[in-house]
Amino acid sequence: MCHHCAGAVPGQETPSRRTFGRLLAVGTALAVLAAVSGCSPASDVAQRPSGTAVPTEGSSPSASASGSPTTTATSAGTASPATTPPPGVAPSASAAATSGPARKHSLTDPASPWVVVNKHRPLSPATFVPPDLVQPAVRLAVSGEAAQLNSTTAAAAERMFAAAAADGVVLTLASGYRSYATQRATYNGYANSRGRAEADTASARPGYSEHQTGWSFDIGDGGGACSFQPCFAEQPAAVWAKANAHRFGFVVRYPWMAHPVTGYFYEPWHLRYIGAEAAGDMHKRGIATLEEYFGLEAAPAYR
Ligand code: DAL
Ligand code: ZN
Repeated sequence: MCHHCAGAVPGQETPSRRTFGRLLAVGTALAVLAAVSGCSPASDVAQRPSGTAVPTEGSSPSASASGSPTTTATSAGTASPATTPPPGVAPSASAAATSGPARKHSLTDPASPWVVVNKHRPLSPATFVPPDLVQPAVRLAVSGEAAQLNSTTAAAAERMFAAAAADGVVLTLASGYRSYATQRATYNGYANSRGRAEADTASARPGYSEHQTGWSFDIGDGGGACSFQPCFAEQPAAVWAKANAHRFGFVVRYPWMAHPVTGYFYEPWHLRYIGAEAAGDMHKRGIATLEEYFGLEAAPAYR
């Protein structure tokens, strides 16, 4: 099931929807073909057992559950970096906490820009709805609920999309806010088609998605190339976002090879607002995940 289809703007993102259809039809074979053709970055392939396809947020997963982040966790209960930590970055959650930022905002209130939502940290309340949802003035690939963000994130997105456009890069808002009910339908669609273990590598269970906070959204590039697929990482939109999003307060929330910490495989399209100061600090210090930045335990699987 594609949660983006329900809110898609008619006439837009058609290539992406065609891609989704092909993914459904061809399944694993497509991902293998993509890898052979150079579409899948080596980065993502390295996260998964050879011969398996790649589940994505915006399309139906098409791999076996053998690549579950739960099977590759580096440690139980601590946020060990997935790669060698950069100078000055502590390798453990407790050490990271000592060098982390002063707690300017709550890490648990879903209305806080620093709320950390993961497989160990559900939204509270589970059915939280941001009180200030608005539709940003950006290029939309969806409509309705999915085209909304909380007001702070919307304003930052407008600045970021404009800056990208000034650099000649098109960004589209491909999936923004999702209610608890929408996330439940999205997750159940994955689980029904691919099983819960595989669904859990790509889609949050209801009450566990950042999309429900209004602080997160997925980007596209208007052309649909590699939309919600690993090869999106190589598209100009994702390359630009990875290099510049921090200037506008965003981080790529599910980085490459960070699945033992975040619980999800690489999502180069999923951006999360935490404010320019914190995002810039993470970028400067080379800290990949919110769990490591805030000294929280890794969350590779649900308890
Ligand atoms: N794809 C992310 C993890 C979500 O479903 O919120
Ligand atoms: Zn997302």
